[in-house]
Parts: sequence; structure tokens; C-alpha cells
Amino acid sequence: MKRLTINTQAPLGRIAPEIYGHFSEHLGRCIYGGLYVGEHSGIPNVNGMRSDVVSALRELEIPVLRWPGGCFAEEYNWRDGIGPKESRKTIVNNIWGGVTEDNSFGTHEFFELCRQLGCKAYVNGSVSYATPREMGEWVEYMTFDGVSPMADLRAENGHPEPWRVDYFGVGNENWGNGGNMNPDFYGNLYRQYQTYVRSYDKDHPIGKICCGPNVDDYEWTEEVLRTCFRRSGSEQGRHGFMDMLSLHYYVHPEGWDIKGSATDFDTEGWYKTMGKALYMDTLIRRHTAIMDRFDPAGEVGLAVDEWGTWFTCEPGTNPGFLYQQNTVRDALVAGVTLNIFNKHCDRVRMACLAQMVNVLQAVILTEGERMLRTPTYHVMHMFRHHQGGTLLESTLTGVEQTGTAKWQVPAVTESVSEKDGVITLTLNNLSESEAQTVEVSLADGCGLEVLEASIVTGARNERNTFDAPDTVTERPFGGHQAAEGGLTVTLPACSVVLLRLRERQ
Ligand code: AHR
Repeated sequence: MKRLTINTQAPLGRIAPEIYGHFSEHLGRCIYGGLYVGEHSGIPNVNGMRSDVVSALRELEIPVLRWPGGCFAEEYNWRDGIGPKESRKTIVNNIWGGVTEDNSFGTHEFFELCRQLGCKAYVNGSVSYATPREMGEWVEYMTFDGVSPMADLRAENGHPEPWRVDYFGVGNENWGNGGNMNPDFYGNLYRQYQTYVRSYDKDHPIGKICCGPNVDDYEWTEEVLRTCFRRSGSEQGRHGFMDMLSLHYYVHPEGWDIKGSATDFDTEGWYKTMGKALYMDTLIRRHTAIMDRFDPAGEVGLAVDEWGTWFTCEPGTNPGFLYQQNTVRDALVAGVTLNIFNKHCDRVRMACLAQMVNVLQAVILTEGERMLRTPTYHVMHMFRHHQGGTLLESTLTGVEQTGTAKWQVPAVTESVSEKDGVITLTLNNLSESEAQTVEVSLADGCGLEVLEASIVTGARNERNTFDAPDTVTERPFGGHQAAEGGLTVTLPACSVVLLRLRERQ
């Protein structure tokens, strides 16, 4: 018998809302066609942003959005994307498909998108292509309130008020596409560049994000921290030189070269993907152990600012656009990963799903004027209740391993938080074929009342299409029953379940 015991008297930390963040890059149809269609489009829009997409995204209560990349950020010149649109430079997007980039979406449009979504802004700069001066001037352009060359230019371009930059990424994947650097070289560049990410608004200092490791590159974490970690109290910022260190990890079922189909996979492909999603826990533990040595007080957060599935792109689409379908398997990857992030909320303070629309594990797909919510969208919608909650101690016993001879995974994973007297419990059944029953109770013996319950489930590769957009969706969940001292919950195979609970008085 599987038993889940929730201890409401054992708070384990705050789940930063930013763990539910998103990522939007100038890549394929994420920005152009997905989020932004321009003011003159026949697709309904507000200041160029698609109204249907923005309205669906608002339901997710998105806390933060990262832009303009990714790899694109390292080659991006912010000056190309300001001023009258007709005179903006047309460039080639060398990284993603070699397509024309007309820069009609730039800094002003990004902040307009954040305004419409009601989210914080995370801007990513370049340390391989741009100079420290270009980075410093961009920060001045966005945030300086007063008379200055960059603030004046911003006013000339129609926005006298400064914007608030909540987070600034100093480089992207500098171990790879972002300059192929060694960790000590990047660490020294980071020290230099971050100096010019000035917090002009002292009440809202910019959170500086240092480029962290690729997957399991523990040497990168170690060497970068050795070069540029400084404790707070120094003049360099709230937390010395940095507020967060990033981590990138994608789930490629068949490995980086082959990746594997998003929709056509077998039982092995299901469990392999689950196993690779669960690996996030190992990565966080190991990188955290290194961070703990430099930063025992936990001043610097881990920002998993790129995560998700990365499959072979949909047949017939531009390989440089990374457009993939999204199935029940993606829903489970999201559920598994978000539960891991919640459980590590002491160190993980931000995460950005890659990417928001039409790219990789997107929450929304568009085709012309049509759009659909993916299975991942519905999981993000259920999990939004954890944002800003207090992680509660929860103990799950009696869980068997399930899977194939090669890929064994726990049948059930969970996380629990509490906010305003309501307990949010999210459960995943990773078994592709068997339902799982879990007895849920409170450590103090109080009973539980179910306020709301919903589920995302389906056959392993079920998905939504433009003709059938609601095949996999969030539906009311009736698989719970009051039991002696708690609840009995029966999770169908391949399911993600949300229960909102209150202690019975
Ligand atoms: O998300 C797609 C790409 O993956 C990003 O541009 C890059 O940072 C990563 O390699």
C-alpha cells in the first residue's frame, strides 16, 4: 500500500513563483507568428501581441519571462531592435535556420508583452559578441530614470518611463555556442561584464544571473564559482557578484544526436523519457552540493532557465525551428520536473520551460490564426497553485519501481505546498499501464476535505491537434474518496493529478 503523509507542521521553504517561469527566444515561430504578429495583422492583437495566445498565457499566471535567447541572445545587438520599425535593421538569424530577422520585436515590444502577461522581465545579454559597454548601455536604456544618453534615446523612441528589469543574464551557454569558453575565462568575463549591470533603481535591484553548467558539467560549476562567487555585503550587489547560477538540462530520449520522435514511441521510449526527466533531481543535488561549499548560507539560487523535452522536429518542418508536438508523455515530464523543483525550493529559485510557444516543449502551438493548448499547458495550469506556497514535508512510502528491464522509475512522485490555509498536492503516475492507489493523510491525524481536484491523462502519445484541440485537457478528477484518517486516491496510468485540500475541522 502506498501511503503519503503530509506534515503541515513541517514547513520546508518558500516555492519561488519564478520556478514557473517561461522562455521565449527569436527561434522559429516562438516570437514571430506565435506571440507577435504585428499591429497590422489580420489576427486579433493588442499592440502586435496575439490576443488569443496572451489570454491563454494569462491563465497560467506566468511569473517571469526570459528573452531574447538562448543562443540568439549571444549574437543579439539590442540597438537593432529599437526605433521606428521601418528603419530597423534586417539581419540573418545565424543560429536558428538562417532566416531573416527584421527586428520588429525588440526591447519595447518585449516589455509590452510582459505588461500584457503581468510578469517579471528576465533579459539575457551577450558576453561573447557584445562589449561590456553595449551591455551597460542596454541596462541604462531599459532602466535609467532621469537624463542620460540612453534614457533620452528611450524617450525619443516613445517610452520616457524606465522599465523594471527583474533579472539579467550575463551570457548564455558560454561553455558552448556562447563563445566556447573555459570556466575560468568565462568566470573572469562574468566578473567584468556584471559590473555594468547597474541597479539604477535601488529599490528594485536587478538579479544577476551567471551562466552555469550544461547538464552534469560539475567542473564548470566548481570553477565558475571559484572565480566569481563573492558573499553578500560586498559592494558588488545583493549577493556579491551574482544572485543566481543557471543550469540547462533537456530530456532527449535517444541522445543529443538522434533525439527521437515526439509522438511515435514505445513503452521503452516512455520509461526512458521518465528516467531522463527524473535525472533532474540528481543534477540539482550534485550542483547544489558544490554550491553549498562556496555558499553555505544559500545566498545564490539555482536558475534552471532552460528545461524540457527536445525531440526530433515534426516531419516537414524547418529543422532550425525546433517545432515539436506535445503528448501525455510531455505532461508527465512537466509534472515530474515541477515536483522536483518544488522539493528543491531551498536552492532552485527560478526555472524557465523551453519554450513558450511553437518551440520544444511549448505550452501553446499555433498555425496561422489557430492555436491550441498542449498537455504541458494544462499541467502548468494545475501546478500554478504552488507558486509562492510553502513546501510541506511529505513522505511517500510503499512506492514500487515500474518500467522496463533497462529503465526503472518510481510509479508515483508528488509534492505538497500550503498557501492561505489551502494544501496543494500534485501527484504523477508514471506507470504507462497500471493505476496506482495512494492513501493520503495528515501527520497530525486531522481529516482532509477536497476543495478541488483535476487531472490530465490519456494514452501515452495522445495529443491535441488544431482539429481536435481538447483531446488532452484538464478535467475534473473524481478518483478520490474519504477514508479513515484521510483520503484514498486512485491515479489512472499516465496521469498528473491536482488536489486542493483543507484540514477538516
Ligand atoms: O532552447 C533552444 C536552445 O537550447 C537555446 O537557444 C540554447 O540556450 C540551448 O542550447
